[in-house]
Amino acid sequence: MRLLLLGGTEFAGRAVAEAALGRGWEVTVFHRGRHPSPPGVRTLLGDRTALDGLAALDEAPGEWDVVVDTWSAAPRAVRDAARLLRGRAGRYVYVSSCSVYDWAPPAGYAEDAPVVRGARADADVTDYARDKRGGELAAVDAFGADRSVLVRAGLIIGPYENVGRLPWWLNRMARGGPVLAPGPRELPLQYVDVRDLAEWVLGAAGRELSGPYNLMSPQGHTTMVELLEACVRVTGGAAELRWTAPEVILEAGIEPWTQLPVWVPPGTDLHDALHSADVSRAVAAGLRCRPVAETVADTWRWLTDLGGSAPRRPDRTVKGLDPQVEAQVLGTV
Ligand SMILES: NC(=O)c1ccc[n+]([C@@H]2O[C@H](COP(=O)([O-])OP(=O)(O)OC[C@H]3O[C@@H](n4cnc5c(N)ncnc54)[C@H](OP(=O)(O)O)[C@@H]3O)[C@@H](O)[C@H]2O)c1
Repeated sequence: MRLLLLGGTEFAGRAVAEAALGRGWEVTVFHRGRHPSPPGVRTLLGDRTALDGLAALDEAPGEWDVVVDTWSAAPRAVRDAARLLRGRAGRYVYVSSCSVYDWAPPAGYAEDAPVVRGARADADVTDYARDKRGGELAAVDAFGADRSVLVRAGLIIGPYENVGRLPWWLNRMARGGPVLAPGPRELPLQYVDVRDLAEWVLGAAGRELSGPYNLMSPQGHTTMVELLEACVRVTGGAAELRWTAPEVILEAGIEPWTQLPVWVPPGTDLHDALHSADVSRAVAAGLRCRPVAETVADTWRWLTDLGGSAPRRPDRTVKGLDPQVEAQVLGTV
C-alpha cells in the first residue's frame, strides 16, 4: 500500500507513519519541515497555509492508495489538499474528533448524533469544533462519502503525546508525595492509545471503509484508579494517591479535564460527552485496544528518554494542577 500522510511527524501522524512502515507500506509525508520526518519515509515539504504551499505535492510524481490528514485548523487547508489529490488517491482519511458533535452529546451517542452547525469546508480558522467539522466536510466534498473516512477520535494518549495529559500525570507521580487523585476510583474512562488508533486507520484504509467512526476504547476499558495506579507503578511508587470526592475538587475551583487531565466528574455533561460514546461501529470495524498498563508504561519509557520533558503543541492550553492548590486541597500545607 502507498500512504500519503499530510503531517506525520508529531503525535497521531507519527504513530500512523510508524505503523504503516511496520506493515511494509510505502510512506510519503508532507509537512513544513519544522519537525523531523520519521526515518524510512519519503518527504515532501510545503506550508498548507501559504499561497502555493502545496506545490511540492502537486509536482511530485505518484499516486497513493490512501491519504491520512491530521490537520486541525482552517478547514480550507483540507479542502485544498483533498481537491488536489482526489484524482491521485483512492481514499481520504481525516483524523477528526468527537468535538464535532453538538455540545454536549448525550451518554451513548453514536455517529448519527447531531454535529455543530455553521461549519464550512472553505472556512478560515474559527473554533476547534467547527474547524474539525469543516475538515470533515472538505474531505467528503472532494472524495465523496464512499471514499472518505472520518476518524472521530476521543482522548488520544500514548508515546509522542504533545498535549500534556498523560505526561503531566506521569511527571506528577514521579515527583512523589501525596497526590490529589480525583474520584470516584471506579470512574469509567474512554481514550485511545495512539498506536491502536494508527492500526485502526490503516485497517480501515485496507478494508476500504468509509464514513464517520467514533474512535476510542469501549466505556469502562479502564477506570481512574487503574490509570493512576499504573502511573504510580511505572514511575517508581513514590506517589501516594489521596482519593478525593468530585465535590471537594469542584468547590476548590479546580477545572476538570485541563487542571486534572483526563478526569471529569461523573454524572455530568462532561462525562457523557468525553467518556461515554458508543464505539460499537469502530469495534465492529476492527478496533483493538491494548491494556492501559501498556500505554502508561510505554509513554513513561518515551518520556524518560526525553528527560521528562514532553513536547507541547503551542495551540493547546497548558495542562496540570498548581502544586500549591493541590497541597491546599489535600491539607498538606
Ligand atoms: N490529542 C487528542 O486527544 C485528540 C483528540 C481527538 C482528535 N485529535 C486530533 O488528532 C490530530 C492530532 O494530530 P497530530 O497533530 O498529532 O498529527 P501529526 O501529523 O503527527 O502532527 C501535525 C503535523 O502537521 C504538520 N504541520 C503543521 N503545520 C503545518 C502547515 N502549515 N503546513 C504543513 N504541515 C504542517 C507538522 O509538521 P511541521 O511542523 O514540520 O510542518 C506535523 O507533521 C489532530 O487533528 C487533532 O485534532 C486529537
